[in-house]
Amino acid sequence: MKIGFIGLGRMGSAMAANLVKAGHDVTVFNRSPEKRRALLELGAHEADSVADACHGQVIITMLADDTAVADVAFSKYGIVETLAKGAIHLSMSTISVALSKRLSETHAHAGQRFVAAPVFGRPDAAAAANLFIVAAGEPAAVEACKPLFDALGQKTFPISTEPTAANLVKLSGNFLLAAAIEALGEAIALVGKAGIDRGAYVDLLTSTIFPVPAYKTYGGLIAESRFEPAAFAAPLGFKDIRLALAAAESLRVPMPLGSLLHDRFLRLLAQGGDNLDWAAIGGLAAQDAGDAQTAKH
Ligand SMILES: NC(=O)c1ccc[n+]([C@@H]2O[C@H](COP(=O)([O-])OP(=O)(O)OC[C@H]3O[C@@H](n4cnc5c(N)ncnc54)[C@H](OP(=O)(O)O)[C@@H]3O)[C@@H](O)[C@H]2O)c1
Repeated sequence: MKIGFIGLGRMGSAMAANLVKAGHDVTVFNRSPEKRRALLELGAHEADSVADACHGQVIITMLADDTAVADVAFSKYGIVETLAKGAIHLSMSTISVALSKRLSETHAHAGQRFVAAPVFGRPDAAAAANLFIVAAGEPAAVEACKPLFDALGQKTFPISTEPTAANLVKLSGNFLLAAAIEALGEAIALVGKAGIDRGAYVDLLTSTIFPVPAYKTYGGLIAESRFEPAAFAAPLGFKDIRLALAAAESLRVPMPLGSLLHDRFLRLLAQGGDNLDWAAIGGLAAQDAGDAQTAKH
């Protein structure tokens, strides 16, 4: 397929590379041009502007947050202004339900199609084309994106015809992940301060009652206090908790654990955690316990 790809960060660079490797005709754009270079060497075409990337059947966005996506979509010479009628904006970033709704309505008004397809999986999963993709939109548009999903992930879940549903499912999933990180952090702080081997503790739990990828990944990072380099940066994790709480507020769903996580992220960021992985909220309990061995950050 002839496609454009905007946003070559930790996730987007790996995803765009897999699309090129799968034989798609990919034109890439990134705000910071130096990140385009590796993709050009793989065979992608370079766009010097958002508009330049919007000449294909599909334009994919994989950007940090609502501000970035709204900027490339709604600004002068942005996606809405330049994408052909009938072409698809495939939004794979983790964005708010409210922005997804606005994008869906604006693209429909412009005669374009909109599919929301946020992903589960960190940059290593993106590089291995092992992402899980939650897709929502008009069925024919979702189906048209299937060759792209096949190149990016191990499984795609078409969840609804309403794009916002995919964004809400993604935000709820990240809320659950953050809750697991906090719970692991507290449990590991407890046994760690008692002098029990934290790695052995995580191995025990994840090979018995919690044989779950999230517990294995984050339990390992917390046990070793390995929060750098960030694969998923703490400010983006904080963004997802804020967006989950915003959706909860508009639906009138109390999420007390979400409010607690909001403050955990605030504490981490207030104390200089911007460059750490979001797993670093799992290190706060050890700091609170005055456990010098783990209180590195
Ligand atoms: N990392 C993960 O494990 C993971 C997993 C699942 C989903 N996600 C989601 O995927 C999305 C991308 O995450 P990431 O980890 O790849 O983030 P990242 O490494 O921080 O990359 C962010 C991208 O957004 C661009 N950007 C930021 N602000 C911009 C603006 N105002 N205008 C234009 N471009 C802007 C950056 O451009 P520059 O290069 O110019 O800064 C970069 O291309 C996020 O929504 C995140 O929540 C991440």
